[in-house]
Amino acid sequence: MSNTKRVILTGATGLIGRQLFGALRERGYEIVVFSRNPEQARRQLPGAAEYVAWAPTPGGGWTAALDGADAVIHLAGAPIAQGLIGVRWTPAYKREIMASRVEGTRAIVEAIAAAPRKPATLVSASAIGYYGHRGAEPLDESAPPGNDFLADVCVAWEREATRAEALGLRVVRVRTGIVLDTTSGALGQLLLPFRLRTGGPILPGTQYYSWIHPADEIGIILLALEHPGAAGPLNATAPNPVTSHEFAAILGEVLGSPSWLPVPELALRAALGEMADLVTKGQRVVPRRAQELGYRFRFPELKPALRDLLG
Ligand SMILES: NC(=O)c1ccc[n+]([C@@H]2O[C@H](COP(=O)([O-])OP(=O)(O)OC[C@H]3O[C@@H](n4cnc5c(N)ncnc54)[C@H](OP(=O)(O)O)[C@@H]3O)[C@@H](O)[C@H]2O)c1
Repeated sequence: MSNTKRVILTGATGLIGRQLFGALRERGYEIVVFSRNPEQARRQLPGAAEYVAWAPTPGGGWTAALDGADAVIHLAGAPIAQGLIGVRWTPAYKREIMASRVEGTRAIVEAIAAAPRKPATLVSASAIGYYGHRGAEPLDESAPPGNDFLADVCVAWEREATRAEALGLRVVRVRTGIVLDTTSGALGQLLLPFRLRTGGPILPGTQYYSWIHPADEIGIILLALEHPGAAGPLNATAPNPVTSHEFAAILGEVLGSPSWLPVPELALRAALGEMADLVTKGQRVVPRRAQELGYRFRFPELKPALRDLLG
C-alpha cells in the first residue's frame, strides 16, 4: 500500500490551481485533477495521477474518484473578475457566479457523503468578499459577513462546504484576498497605465486592498491542507493591507513611473457597473488564524512582493 497522499483538486487549471498543482507535486502528493475539460487539463498540467471530467452538478461518474482520497481542495467557480475589462455582472452572469460555487460545492459534499472511504479534509475556496465593504475596520475571521452580492455568494458557498463537518471532515474555508498577478485581475489592469506613465490611485483612494503574493496564497492553502489545527475560516491575505493611494504609490515606485493621475470612481462605474465595487471599495482583512497557526509570510509587505513579481 502506498503512503502517498491522494488529493482531489478542482479548479487546477485556474490562476491559483496551476501554481498549487506544482507545489503539491513537489511535495509528493498524488493529484487527481477534476476539470470540465480533462484533456485540456492533461495538456496544461502534465503529471497528475488522473484527469477526471466533472461538472458542478450532482451525480456523474466523477463521484467515484472521491472514494479513498485523503483530501479535497475545491477551487472551481466561474471567474468573478475576468481581468476586470470585458465582463459585466449581468443578472445571468451573477447567477452563474453563485450557482457554480453553491451547486459545485454541494455536489462535492454529496459525493463525499456517498463515498465508502471518505477523505479526512476539505479545503474549500472562499473570498474576502465575505466581509462586504467595511472601510478601515480591521477584519479577522471572527468578523460577521457583509450584505452585498459577493458577501451573499461567499456565505452560501461556505455554508455548503461547512456541511462536510457533519460527515467528520476537517473543513477549512480559505478566504482569499487579491492575489497579485501581473497578467490579470486588478494588478494586471493597473500595469498598463503605469507603464504609459499615466498611472494613479483608483478613487476615493482611502479604500483598502487586502492583497497576497501568489507564493503565500499557495503557502496558506498548504497550511490548510496539512495543519491539523486548521479548521473553519482562514484568511489568505498579507498582514499589511494598504489603501488604494498607498498601492498606487508603491506600484509607481517599483515601476519607476509616477503615480499622479487618479482614476475617478464614476468613470470606473460607467465602464464596469456594479463590478467596479471590487476596486473602488475594499476591506482591510488581517490573517489572524494563519499567524496563530504559525504561518510565516514570505511577502508580508507590498513593495518586496511587487518587486519580486515585476522584476
Ligand atoms: N484569484 C483571486 O484573486 C481570488 C481571490 C479571492 C477568491 N478567489 C477564489 O479562489 C478560487 C480559485 O481562484 P482562481 O483565480 O484560480 O480562479 P480561476 O483562474 O478563475 O479558475 C477557476 C477554475 O474554475 C473552473 N471554472 C471556471 N468557470 C467555471 C464554471 N462556470 N463552473 C465551474 N467551474 C468553473 C475552471 O476549471 P476547469 O475549466 O478546469 O473546469 C477554472 O480553471 C475561485 O473560486 C475564486 O473565486 C480567487
